Amino acid sequence: MALESLKKIEEALDHDEVSAYKANFEVFKGGLSRHDIAKYYDKWAETGEYDMHLNPNRYTGPESAARALAKQFSAEERSTARILDVAAGTGRLGAELYNLGFRHLDALDPSEGMLNKARERHIYTNFINDFIGLDNPVPVEDDTYDGLAVSGGFREGHIPATALHEMIRVVRPGMFDSYCITNTSGVICIAMREEYLDYVSEYKGTLEPFMHNLKRNGKLKFLSKDTITDYAFGKSGVIFQFVIS
Ligand SMILES: C[S@@+](CC[C@H](N)C(=O)[O-])C[C@H]1O[C@@H](n2cnc3c(N)ncnc32)[C@H](O)[C@@H]1O
Repeated sequence: MALESLKKIEEALDHDEVSAYKANFEVFKGGLSRHDIAKYYDKWAETGEYDMHLNPNRYTGPESAARALAKQFSAEERSTARILDVAAGTGRLGAELYNLGFRHLDALDPSEGMLNKARERHIYTNFINDFIGLDNPVPVEDDTYDGLAVSGGFREGHIPATALHEMIRVVRPGMFDSYCITNTSGVICIAMREEYLDYVSEYKGTLEPFMHNLKRNGKLKFLSKDTITDYAFGKSGVIFQFVIS
């Protein structure tokens, strides 16, 4: 993003909004290695500023993703389903899933500082301090989870499109007929800012075609693609939901 655009945004926003915007911009402006990004999040979490900056008034991704995933599971299924929160961060998505009745939640994130904040919520069972979609598989057995959700993990330098293979590997296939999921498992839910599909180099012209290829190859079926108007900093978001076949 050009510096002039950032200046224009600064002029239009109040002080808190500016520092939140800047802190967020720093980590997705590009040019950071994946390890630098994890370290940035460590600090952002440890100061307590992550949850202040990206509070629910500015960033609604976790709540939107949790509500979308919950629609796929009955109240009874929520109490037994195993769910992996990928790029869990400080655990906002997990907290919302917990509020909606999910009781078996694991958190995966490369930032130990973010995971330490997530630990304080006492809602997750296992913590996996790792990147998904890089050279090594994550330390999770095949077909472990009934569902997997990501909020805010698809952005510049974060989760690569190819990580979908790894997500599919760790989620148990669901049964699907032409109308609905017939046993609830195999659900993947991804919430991200809509504009990233067009300007993040790793996703532009790649992420959605990659999803469609997986569909063509019989690896998954699309459940939905929904747009949310106020996802983050007034920008729209998109929520993809698939079931693994
Ligand atoms: C904007 S935060 C979102 C955190 C949380 N899901 C939320 O919505 O508040 C992005 C998170 O993605 C994590 N992340 C970055 N690269 C990742 C990767 N390759 N695999 C998994 N998580 C990653 C970061 O450590 C960070 O905690």
